[in-house]
Amino acid sequence: MSSVLVTGANRGIGLGITRHLLTNSSVATVIATARDVEAAKDLKALDSPKLNIIQLEVVNEGSIAKAAEKVAAIVGDNGLDVLINNAGIAVMEPLNGELSKAKIIEVLDVNAIGPLLIANKFYPLLKRAASKKGSAQIAMISSGAASLDNAIRKGNRMPYSIYGMSKAALNMLTRRLSVEWKDDNIRATTFCPGWVKTDMGTQAAKYTKNPSTMADFKPTPEQVEKFKAGRKALQANPTAIDGLIAKLSPAAQEPAKKFRDLVLSNEEDPAKFHAVAEAAKVGLSDEVKKELESHRKEVAVALGFA
Ligand SMILES: NC(=O)c1ccc[n+]([C@@H]2O[C@H](COP(=O)([O-])OP(=O)(O)OC[C@H]3O[C@@H](n4cnc5c(N)ncnc54)[C@H](OP(=O)(O)O)[C@@H]3O)[C@@H](O)[C@H]2O)c1
Repeated sequence: MSSVLVTGANRGIGLGITRHLLTNSSVATVIATARDVEAAKDLKALDSPKLNIIQLEVVNEGSIAKAAEKVAAIVGDNGLDVLINNAGIAVMEPLNGELSKAKIIEVLDVNAIGPLLIANKFYPLLKRAASKKGSAQIAMISSGAASLDNAIRKGNRMPYSIYGMSKAALNMLTRRLSVEWKDDNIRATTFCPGWVKTDMGTQAAKYTKNPSTMADFKPTPEQVEKFKAGRKALQANPTAIDGLIAKLSPAAQEPAKKFRDLVLSNEEDPAKFHAVAEAAKVGLSDEVKKELESHRKEVAVALGFA
């Protein structure tokens, strides 16, 4: 059973990742950080025994040190299995306009220097987990804006140069960590989440319901009522859902059963259903994933949700 820490977890992608992790049965402890814990209402609303919320301001060395102490107390001798550096800021400034050195430094500070100092302070905890279990992970939420190829793509006129510089530095940091910490069995990886509807991504973003985070998934009250009524009917007659599972290939049946168990439980958060359905597809062939997608639609119809 793993422990995972996510920075910048009070909103956007970090909140989505946290919600997703809480539904993952192989994760025992989720440590979610926020700059202002008091104000982190959506995060606190997740209300799970697995969830620990701690304060972390990524540009403040004192805050990083305190957070590392708190995490050490939470994870104890097992160490920290996964650290996700997600907190970030963006700036869109054309390079021929008026530039603020302080703003440029802030972007580099939050997106690259902060993750470096966090990695450094949490190294002993990651190393402890790696020595106990064989490996630990540090993951960085980077961006396509860091891509050297994208930077010169024809027609690419978005003024993201400063943000891109900070994420390119983050990518270099990750690559270097993967070399420097290799012998400790700590893996380092960067991820680009795609263009997601969050405060940063704006409402113009491509992924309205990003399956990996469900950052923006908010069902209407009408959908919630339909869902509850459909579930009540299925709880009264669970064989209806078993009949749908029986039609699936053997490889699809196990993940479908996990989804069924959640549907038949009293879980109230529809975003969790999406998260579990997506988590269940990880590592499966494209064919089985398609099969599960159609199965999920059938279940949604049975629930009166679609
Ligand atoms: N959205 C996209 O389309 C997109 C695309 C590519 C990559 N990304 C990357 O994905 C990550 C999350 O982005 P998002 O879209 O979820 O952004 P978001 O909605 O703006 O959320 C940013 C998060 O980072 C936290 N944060 C910012 N500065 C911080 C600091 N100094 N110390 C601690 N926490 C800080 C924020 O906390 P507060 O609430 O306290 O400000 C918030 O929790 C970022 O690294 C971003 O660069 C996003």
